[in-house]
Amino acid sequence: MLNRRKFLTAAVGVASAGALAACAKEDKGSTGTGSNGGGGGKKLTLGFSQVGSESGWRTANTESVKSAAQEAGFTLKFSDAQQKQENQISAIRSFIAQKVDVIAFSPVVVTGWDAVLKEAKAKNIPVVLTDRSVETSDESLFVTLVGSDFTDEGRRAAKILEKVLEKAGHKGPVKIAQLEGTTGAAPAIERAKGFKEVMDAEHKDDWKIVVSQTGDFTRAGGKQVMSAFLQSNPDIDVLFAHNDDMGIGAIQAIEAAGKKPGKDILIVTVDGVKDGFVAMSEGKINAIVECNPLLGPQLMEVVQKVKNGEKVERWVKTEESDFLQEQAKDALPTRKY
Ligand code: AHR
Repeated sequence: MLNRRKFLTAAVGVASAGALAACAKEDKGSTGTGSNGGGGGKKLTLGFSQVGSESGWRTANTESVKSAAQEAGFTLKFSDAQQKQENQISAIRSFIAQKVDVIAFSPVVVTGWDAVLKEAKAKNIPVVLTDRSVETSDESLFVTLVGSDFTDEGRRAAKILEKVLEKAGHKGPVKIAQLEGTTGAAPAIERAKGFKEVMDAEHKDDWKIVVSQTGDFTRAGGKQVMSAFLQSNPDIDVLFAHNDDMGIGAIQAIEAAGKKPGKDILIVTVDGVKDGFVAMSEGKINAIVECNPLLGPQLMEVVQKVKNGEKVERWVKTEESDFLQEQAKDALPTRKY
């Protein structure tokens, strides 16, 4: 099993993509318009399998990948898996058949990749993970991960909740509802883990997660699950939503139940997309832990290095910030996604 902790250890060292990259074949067809794309004037072909279009974060991530590939002068073969693992596996098999230079993908869930990754390895096509990690018994099946530290995002959510509770003057026990991301996905597993870690270490006696269920990272999921939460637990104090979209769906459910989001129920979300900032500037979200979707430029840089056979870090991490409600109005005009 591969987890972010293992990545952290591995990140101290570097991984060589040379052996895999050396035999990768190139596709002469091109949609890229940038100035380079690989040694010898040949355009690098990147096969990219995206999770889907479940959230504002994902839309921004897709745009970032597409524009950065264009900028880098790569030929991008892009495939949208519509949140289904079987679609991602088919897309990866198709990239292998097309003999792309490098395969990159954001795995919808953590398990079940070994067989297809072995097929890529057998054809000497290097694989770069982006955004989300996988669990595998053979860490040589991919070169690196370009993405965020989701466990730390969970920890940061718990730490910022301390400030939110203090600001709201909340005293006594805290009943928390958690809207989880897609079941089995790295950000759902790791954000829950990081949050619980801080809760167990520092708030064992006063904080309690009273309900927790997946909303699949979508607004519709967030609304539906929050409405059920409110029926079974009308006295929830706090909502921790694993992304802004589920938080925004939950706000609709809270308002429909006649309560005030951000006041009657304090809300902390993850991502920091524009719609999240709008809700925060309206006082409906209390704090946001940023998860940066603009991974395209970093990803293309890594892909080029992998193709060149250069050494890359085992985990290329993304820089992120946290935002409280009072920062929302100032930050909103400069949000890039
Ligand atoms: O993997 C990143 C997560 O996936 C984002 O937090 C969420 O919005 C998206 O769907």
